[in-house]
Amino acid sequence: MRSIIIAGNWKMNKDAGQTSEFCRQLASFLKEHSHPRVTALLAPVYPFLAQAREILESTPALVAAQDVSAREQGAFTGEVAAFQLASLNIRHCIVGHSERRQYHLESDALIREKLIRLREQGITPILCIGETLAQREAGETEGLIVSQLEGALQGLELDAGEDLVIAYEPVWAIGTGVTATAQQAQEAHALIRAWLSQRFNPATAQRIHLLYGGSVKPGNIAELLSCADIDGGLIGGASLKIEDYQAMYATAAGLAGTAR
Ligand code: PGA
Repeated sequence: MRSIIIAGNWKMNKDAGQTSEFCRQLASFLKEHSHPRVTALLAPVYPFLAQAREILESTPALVAAQDVSAREQGAFTGEVAAFQLASLNIRHCIVGHSERRQYHLESDALIREKLIRLREQGITPILCIGETLAQREAGETEGLIVSQLEGALQGLELDAGEDLVIAYEPVWAIGTGVTATAQQAQEAHALIRAWLSQRFNPATAQRIHLLYGGSVKPGNIAELLSCADIDGGLIGGASLKIEDYQAMYATAAGLAGTAR
């Protein structure tokens, strides 16, 4: 059975001091409450990755980057390359978040290049996909999910499925307080797993973690995690407060090992 990942996507929040403080509080929480089948993951902004890694060094918590350059190295001002993340021992990286697709016009082809750069460095991508409200209302959800998967994963081979995480994040649920119902989320996740099963193979598809993202909070995480194909959350707003983060981790720990 797949473990659960509680991933905090901090976006452009928290300064250096606030990042360290949260990481210290998380480290002491995990000392007592760490569950072998629940992975804590945090994605702070680039400049604070090293300090977050250092503070969480002695814990099982993972630190992820929020993005990566599609280029290998060189004259690309403001960009950060996969090899640079790898040199900090960063092993996970979010790619294709809807905010990058929307504000930076990232295409599936560009996201695919980023996936390739990450995989060259042994970094596990957390690939974000999901439809807008207009697309859902037009009945385009399935088609959109499939085309985003096809575009980003074209030509890519996986080892065993441990080397890819997918986050389904309906754009209309991100930062809006509106969560997809557990049923809507499960339907999308089942579709994604079925697609992965065909594209790779059933065993690999069973190993890939599928996270749900979009207004996940302490009050709704249990219901979402109870769905068969939801293996964790990619959480923005509610991951910024240590009390909320701990509450969500504790809920996941309570559910891990049950037949979710
Ligand atoms: P939210 O963000 O939890 O604030 O809706 C989730 C995300 O964008 O990853």
